[in-house]
Amino acid sequence: MTGRAVAHRTAPLDVSAAWELLRSVRSAADAAAAGLGCDPDGRWRWRDASPEADALADRYVSLCLAGPLFTFAQLGQSLDGFIASRTGDADYVTGEEDREHLHRLRALADAVVIGAGTAVADDPRLTVRACTGAHPVRVVIDPYRRVPRGHQVFTDGSAPTLWVVGADADEAAETGRGADERAPGPRRDGRDGGGVGAGVEVLTLRDRAAFAPRRLVRELARRGLGRVLVEGGGVTVSRFLREGALHRLYVTVAPVLLGDGVPGLRFTGPERMRDALRPPTRRAVLGEDTLFELDLRAPRPGEPGGDENTGPGQGGDEGENPVHHGYAQPLGGAQSRRTEGPRGDALPGAPAADVQR
Ligand SMILES: NC(=O)c1ccc[n+]([C@@H]2O[C@H](COP(=O)([O-])OP(=O)(O)OC[C@H]3O[C@@H](n4cnc5c(N)ncnc54)[C@H](OP(=O)(O)O)[C@@H]3O)[C@@H](O)[C@H]2O)c1
Repeated sequence: MTGRAVAHRTAPLDVSAAWELLRSVRSAADAAAAGLGCDPDGRWRWRDASPEADALADRYVSLCLAGPLFTFAQLGQSLDGFIASRTGDADYVTGEEDREHLHRLRALADAVVIGAGTAVADDPRLTVRACTGAHPVRVVIDPYRRVPRGHQVFTDGSAPTLWVVGADADEAAETGRGADERAPGPRRDGRDGGGVGAGVEVLTLRDRAAFAPRRLVRELARRGLGRVLVEGGGVTVSRFLREGALHRLYVTVAPVLLGDGVPGLRFTGPERMRDALRPPTRRAVLGEDTLFELDLRAPRPGEPGGDENTGPGQGGDEGENPVHHGYAQPLGGAQSRRTEGPRGDALPGAPAADVQR
């Protein structure tokens, strides 16, 4: 990052130029060099920029500065909590602005993780198309190798793919679990059995415990993939949340009612409302939708602060036991801990392109 672009700017920064600068901000020094400053209310702003560029800074600078080891998730859901219809159709729960937001999150991640259910149902590409940015490494959690090998993440070659499968997948095949088009799978020695395209690496995990989200995050970090976006579906994000493997959760709520369908977040809840999770939250308007940004690192008042570089996924806890997030206590006024999003501004319209994930 250099301050050169900032020094020679003659007109207020527009949103495209702001995004180009933002993408390479990883430290406070980078932010200052890019012309960003933090207001006393904690909001990041450019020195001289359009309102849309300031909204972009407010929404993404904290993610840019979150450190090299950071796990965040995004779901788009109906008002009644579903991420797809009962047939698994998720085109589209939320609108174009949310799609652009999702692609910005991808661009700020090293890896994008999905579960087998999403890979099977959506055949997503998981690339960055609604904004500029590098494609993250695509990670598919597929213990039983039920994702068809013809799916795009295995064949399109547009970004590297890590296919995380179980060593017992062969056994599952013998007992009939999995898709008919199941790929000829990775061998028990961890080498690919063939059938997937170039750029696809098969990671064979020896037992179920190795699929625990915090262990997966650690494995990705070991491969240099420290900034991880968990993109769905509901089962996968819920597991990461339940295990305390998420630092931040984005949920976009669309004003649509489905009645039933594929559920979003599900975990064993508290008996009393006062024990519910109420993390610090920001809100923003994305067209007709509302984006909620939940800070899952925040300690309960009086507890030591969470360190973003040693937080969930990097520490010692492993396995499937739920991890106490530290804020599952009454906040003494949850509203007081909420801050409004970037003045309710919507992100500027995304280019009308295909709307596949
Ligand atoms: N609106 C949105 O934001 C959004 C986003 C993504 C997807 N979707 C929709 O959501 C639906 C799919 O979601 P879903 O909740 O049914 O499934 P999912 O979360 O995509 O996949 C769940 C499956 O992934 C595997 N898996 C994930 N994490 C694992 C872990 N830690 N350990 C072991 N296995 C793990 C398991 O596969 P096995 O069952 O083979 O063991 C699990 O059953 C689709 O209809 C899709 O269109 C919507």
